[in-house]
Amino acid sequence: MSKVTVVGAGNVGATCFNNLAIKQVAGELVLIDIKEGLAEGKVLDMYQTSTLMGFGCTLTGVTNDYSRTAGSDVVVITSGMPRKPGMTREELIGVNAGIVKEVVANVLKYSPNAILLIVSNPMDTMTYLASKISGLPSNRVFGMGGALDSARFKGYLAKALGANSNDVDGMVIGGHGDTTMIPLTSKASYKGIPVSQFLDEATLKQIAADTMVGGATLTKMLGTSAWYAPGAAAAMVVESIINDTKKVFPSCVHLDGEYGQKDIYIGAPAVIGRNGIEKVIELKLNDEEKQAFEKSAEAVRKTNAVLKEIGAL
Ligand code: LAC
Repeated sequence: MSKVTVVGAGNVGATCFNNLAIKQVAGELVLIDIKEGLAEGKVLDMYQTSTLMGFGCTLTGVTNDYSRTAGSDVVVITSGMPRKPGMTREELIGVNAGIVKEVVANVLKYSPNAILLIVSNPMDTMTYLASKISGLPSNRVFGMGGALDSARFKGYLAKALGANSNDVDGMVIGGHGDTTMIPLTSKASYKGIPVSQFLDEATLKQIAADTMVGGATLTKMLGTSAWYAPGAAAAMVVESIINDTKKVFPSCVHLDGEYGQKDIYIGAPAVIGRNGIEKVIELKLNDEEKQAFEKSAEAVRKTNAVLKEIGAL
């Protein structure tokens, strides 16, 4: 029987957990938070939907007691502060680095064989930090950002096309930041047909721009960062791990020469299965995309360097 833990019972963590429960991704699901009663309350509330939604996995909510997470196959880390309107994800580094470090240590104490999926922001840097401090092989530590950004990209494309969003395909690679994301317009398609056959260049540029600030737009509307799509995206990545479905999700992965980059965690398409990152796919990028990737990696490295400055690494 598989066991999945979600750390952080805030909006994103709880939504991820709820999707995992409804889809019965694992036999046992644990939600853990530092705030007394929060995970317990949310889990009890969700449990009371089980006869309505028809799911039957074991759900546990706990405060701080990591022993209850023991033997998890996958641990999703969503802990930390979300953004407030006007904030960048990068501004969260000071607070969230300490939190992520502590969480990773606690998780590995009880689940030394777990695959870690990092969602906390700034996500690329938090994934790099989790990898460095855990010393786990790179297939077992990765971040969720591209699955969310790609979902937003596909949504904006579908709206412009007047299409069913499930008929649209598209990927966002690079960093999970307002200026570091790279929506791959050249590879986006509507039922396999390049979107450039239906949408003019100005529209496509606008869609890419809207995608990049997709999270910020929602933060402005909601007063805090979004949760439905982030939670769903994380849950779908977990499902691909647990069920070994080997789906491709752009994910924050360790690059070792791919895309001309080393010693960095950044978004690239990857096959996700029971071993976590089964394979990183190296796409053929055009010159503009290559340049954007280099710029994105440079920005992510700059944020990673802050980890040393603040003594987190
Ligand atoms: C967003 C946050 C979760 O993009 O990073 O909504």
